[in-house]
Amino acid sequence: MSIKTATYGGVATIEIARAEKKNALTLGMYTAMADALNAAGANSSVRAVLIAGQPGIFTSGNDLEDFMQRPPAGEASPVYRFMQSLLTCEKPVLAAVTGAAVGIGATLLLHCDLVYVSDQARLAMPFVGLGLVPEFASTVLLPRLMGSARAAEKLLLGEPFTGAEAVELGLANAVLPPEEVLIHTRRMAERFNALPPGAVRDTKRLMRAAGVSGIERAMQAEAAVFSERLRSPEAREAFQAFFQKRKPDFSRF
Ligand code: COA
Repeated sequence: MSIKTATYGGVATIEIARAEKKNALTLGMYTAMADALNAAGANSSVRAVLIAGQPGIFTSGNDLEDFMQRPPAGEASPVYRFMQSLLTCEKPVLAAVTGAAVGIGATLLLHCDLVYVSDQARLAMPFVGLGLVPEFASTVLLPRLMGSARAAEKLLLGEPFTGAEAVELGLANAVLPPEEVLIHTRRMAERFNALPPGAVRDTKRLMRAAGVSGIERAMQAEAAVFSERLRSPEAREAFQAFFQKRKPDFSRF
């Protein structure tokens, strides 16, 4: 099992633990994370959820082998279930980004409430370079957050950015030395123990309410194109190039 969960001191922790594959997320890992989020939501002793990775790596995103062999198929797919659980989680969700956050690893941060990033972290949404399109409403949320010009750098060009830039762009709350990220995030999560849970829940819901319909529309539109693109020759070339440890060649498309 590559997802470790623990609940103590009012905080449910979901730890991505597949360091040998840079924490790439498989179908089973999405399912485990969805189940953990749902369990945290139902457990009245839990006041906040903390998602963490390993030293030097938050997650390298979807497992590219899975993308080739077992592509997600609609709303029943584990990745969709996980993101739906994250989007509908009524409790505060915090992320401790201890290292690289790629693809859905960066996308999911847009749906967390508080994000703390290592000063060594590199974030990237390299969907276009993989022959894909961004997903889970990042085509709407990113331009809204940082303006369309800067969002185009991240989404169209797939330019990586640092933890400090993530803070400057409004995607993260603070940048910290790597060894302090998890401790700080946990400390922030524990602050919810002293706050009234009903008021926290209602405030989170109200903060998100205005954007919900736009997010759902964007998610559906992105998912339809994403499924097509996963089967495209461009994506096939990109995935094969990654595993063959070479640069992809898109010159024939
Ligand atoms: N899916 C499947 N395997 C992955 C993976 C992924 N998303 N990311 C890394 N791995 C595997 C590598 O294939 C490699 O396996 P191997 O040891 O059997 O060869 C191992 O994890 C280590 O990866 P490596 O690329 O050598 O590590 P690195 O430190 O040089 O780079 C990253 C780390 C995260 C920058 C790099 O792995 C990367 O770019 N990964 C792909 C990110 C991506 O495109 N994600 C999907 C977005 S939709």
